[in-house]
Parts: sequence; C-alpha cells; structure tokens
Amino acid sequence: MKSTTHRLDRFISQNSGVKLSDVRLLLAQKRILVDGQIAQSIQQKITQFTQVMLDGQCLQNNQAAYVLLHKPQGVVSATQDSQHTTVLDLIEHPQKSELHIVGRLDLNTTGLVLLTNDGAWSRQVSLPQTRLVKTYDVQLAQPVGAQYAAVFAQGIYFAYENITTQPAQLEILSAHRVRLSLVEGKYHQVKRMFGYFQNQVLQLHRVSVGPLTLAGLAVGQSRALTAQELATMDRYLNS
Ligand code: URA
Repeated sequence: MKSTTHRLDRFISQNSGVKLSDVRLLLAQKRILVDGQIAQSIQQKITQFTQVMLDGQCLQNNQAAYVLLHKPQGVVSATQDSQHTTVLDLIEHPQKSELHIVGRLDLNTTGLVLLTNDGAWSRQVSLPQTRLVKTYDVQLAQPVGAQYAAVFAQGIYFAYENITTQPAQLEILSAHRVRLSLVEGKYHQVKRMFGYFQNQVLQLHRVSVGPLTLAGLAVGQSRALTAQELATMDRYLNS
C-alpha cells in the first residue's frame, strides 16, 4: 500500500486557487519546487510529506515522524488516559501531538512500540498481508507442551472474529518460556493463543517488529528511527 497521493497540478490548484488548466504554465515557467527541485511534470505524485513551493511560498511542508519506544509495564497504549501513564507521556518529540500508535500492547505487556504521524506507513506495518513479523517473549504459568508449535503453525480458530490465525512460529526456550513470531496483531492474540491450551501468560514482551529491535534502549526510553532503519523497513514492507 502507498500513501494517499495527489497529482501535482490538482494539489497546486486546490492549495493556491490557480486554475487547474493554468498549472502547466507555472510548471513551464519553473515556478514550482517539489522537495527543493524544479517540478518537471504536472502528473508528479504528491504525498502528505512532499514539500511543495510556489513562487517561493510554501504550500506544504509536513515532516514524517517515526518513533520507537521501549514500553514499560503499567503504561497504557493510548494517547490520553485519565488513570494511567500513556505511551505518549513517555515521549519527547517536537511532533508529539501528531503521533499515533502502530499496534498497541496491553497494559502489562512490555517492549517495542512504534508511533508515527504517517498513516499509510502504520497501515502497511499492521496489515497481515504485509507479513511483517512481530516477535514476543512469553513467560507461561504451565509448562509448554510439545504439541503447541504444530497447532500454532496451523492456526487457531478465533470464534469472535470468525478467523483462523495466520501460521505462527514457536521456539521453546525452556519449560515455561517461549519466543513466538506472528505476522498479525489480533486483540490479545498471544494470550488467546495460549488460552487455547488453558495456559496463562504471566509475562509478555515484544522483542522486535520486522528488522526493528530495542537494542540499546532502556525501559521507558524512546528515539526516532534512523534513516537506515526506515530504508530497511521500506524493503520489508515492499518485498
Ligand atoms: N498479544 C497479547 O495478548 N497482548 C499484547 O499486548 C500483544 C500481543
């Protein structure tokens, strides 16, 4: 999936009052800059984050923001809450008020949470069809049975949504500890998958989302994704 785009001529016309049919002339006169370059075609695609200037006047200059947070226990995955500290309360970012959460974690789940102001990116990250792997470390009340891996690989029927979960990969680390990799994020998915075996999840920690990890980030800390991480994510999202 790509971000919502507009053709340059429509964008200019809608944002400047210039008639659509006159935009071609502005282009020929080299009066339009797109991301700092003289525009070459009226059909050029403009996204929410393309910078557009006309006669030195800025028509659009939104900065995309991508933040990675190491969520502590007891922090709610919401932007506002009357009772609990929210993930947004933990973040210092100039565009904090624009950010939304990409794939929530439960109150007591810890680990990797992404936030962004780029709706197209977050949809792509969350779509099961993108097959971006989210990996969790899970501590369980009962020992994990040898049959779990095959059942998770086949998928479990969730009556409420009337769906069967996508194949998931289970690595057994010890009797009560596993690493589970999913390509989707249904409501309470990990807890419900172990609930199938009446095995209660005692601790849940999201280790990674695609190529992104928490390496070097202490609990409660956040940072912007690097250009390299974004480029790697793009490859994962578009492969
Ligand atoms: N699955 C759950 O059950 N809870 C989470 O927070 C994330 C995945």
